[in-house]
Amino acid sequence: MYRKILYIKANPKPEEDSYTFKLANEFLKYYKQENPDDQITELDLYKEGIKCLDQKMLKELSDKERNEMHRHALQFAKSDKYIIAAPMWNLSVPAILKAYFDYVSYAGITFKYTEKGPMGLLGDKPRRVMHIVSRGGQYSEGPYKAFEMGDEYVRTILGFMGIIKVETLALENTNVLNGNELHEKVREAYKEAKRMGKHF
Ligand SMILES: Cc1cc2nc3c(=O)[nH]c(=O)nc-3n(C[C@H](O)[C@H](O)[C@H](O)COP(=O)(O)O)c2cc1C
Repeated sequence: MYRKILYIKANPKPEEDSYTFKLANEFLKYYKQENPDDQITELDLYKEGIKCLDQKMLKELSDKERNEMHRHALQFAKSDKYIIAAPMWNLSVPAILKAYFDYVSYAGITFKYTEKGPMGLLGDKPRRVMHIVSRGGQYSEGPYKAFEMGDEYVRTILGFMGIIKVETLALENTNVLNGNELHEKVREAYKEAKRMGKHF
């Protein structure tokens, strides 16, 4: 049976100028080879016009059952696997991805309130997430590890909704390395993209 994959794109750059998108495309190439029947839906958050929740939207959340957040939350909840492509911006994710999670963290669809506190609703089937990220520096290990708040945030908010199987594919040091060293780093990341793409 085919699965529904939601490919969430959170970078305003064109594909060819983005390390994140190029790494994601490499990952997708191998994923598609292994899973030709899966249905992949691309969700470019910039083209979609995702914006910070404003007064009107907050009002709609409480007054109107069907609204933009509701539509996105349903699409999110109907997916089996998620690929999130987002570069590191100021130690975290681009704000548009946070705004998107403000849409899809929707009471009654992705989580619910209980007497014991909020409870994720997306643990009902074995969902998986691949977070693909490019960073100018190094945060996966070393002295700046504790500064990393993007992958941490993505994992935490997904866990809040009940999705705990989250993996990360990262290309780091793009602003630190040059020439052959950078080329080698990209090559290593692509190799990892191939391995992870085949097994996701
Ligand atoms: C607005 C902005 C903020 C950034 N903040 C950071 C940062 O906090 N730490 C870091 O290591 N790199 C930072 N970078 C660099 C990017 O993470 C890095 O260039 C990355 O490879 C970009 O991926 P992309 O080519 O897919 O856009 C920032 C870049 C931009 C445009």
